[in-house]
Amino acid sequence: MQREYRPDDWQTYRIQYDDPFREVEPLATEIAVVDGALAALRDAGMLPHTTYDHAKLLAHRAAVAETFEIPWTAITPRMGRFIYAINAIARPARMIAAGVFCGNTFISNAGAAVGPGAVYTAVELLGVEIKPEEAERAERNVRLLDPTGIARIIAADAVDMAAAYAHPIDLLYLDADGAGKRGKGVYLDILEAALPHLHPGTLILAHNSINCAAALEEYLAYVRDDAHCRASVNVMIDGEGLEVSMI
Ligand SMILES: C[S@@+](CC[C@H](N)C(=O)[O-])C[C@H]1O[C@@H](n2cnc3c(N)ncnc32)[C@H](O)[C@@H]1O
Repeated sequence: MQREYRPDDWQTYRIQYDDPFREVEPLATEIAVVDGALAALRDAGMLPHTTYDHAKLLAHRAAVAETFEIPWTAITPRMGRFIYAINAIARPARMIAAGVFCGNTFISNAGAAVGPGAVYTAVELLGVEIKPEEAERAERNVRLLDPTGIARIIAADAVDMAAAYAHPIDLLYLDADGAGKRGKGVYLDILEAALPHLHPGTLILAHNSINCAAALEEYLAYVRDDAHCRASVNVMIDGEGLEVSMI
């Protein structure tokens, strides 16, 4: 089964990567676009409903904008809201995010369970970053929002870390950009390493389903194969895109 969600303006909606929180469209438009994307996931059987706390999302966004050191990010307000909402609705006890750079993508996921946007209590939310200096900055950022340590960043190769993880994974977020020719192709390596820990109902979110579609060809073919995933939706709410799949 393969589906997609594509609002009319996905090619013209743009942010500046070094000014990611600047308002680029009315909030009502952002909410409507994300509601449509959530409905597509609900209709595909991946989410039970589309309701989440809009005020909590804004509290989360304001805290990240105020406290995080973010040199750049490709996570648009639409995408940040969408990722937050998926986590707020699905409530993963254990989430792993692979390739977190400065931590903005990680906290878009984890912010549903820690900090001022928290709507549930998670068990463990782990961000994995292969560059030690980036992992250190991401961990510094995350500590400002989560004093509990439920959310944290480790410096490691996500392929090794996923293979060695000793618990079931409820949500896997993929954003690593591997070294050498593999590039974003490393998503499939991470997914295959994590497979023994995934279960029916595990959500897999893969950033860059549009602008890195060529590098992700093998990965996308894998998750769009009914033999591997019960559903997979290409969510085209900005120029980057997010492929959302469910085991
Ligand atoms: C392009 S950045 C992601 C940025 C993110 N999309 C954003 O907009 O904020 C990808 C990150 O993945 C990291 N990375 C690459 N290969 C990795 C691996 N095997 N395990 C963990 N992290 C990895 C890189 O060091 C880099 O920080």
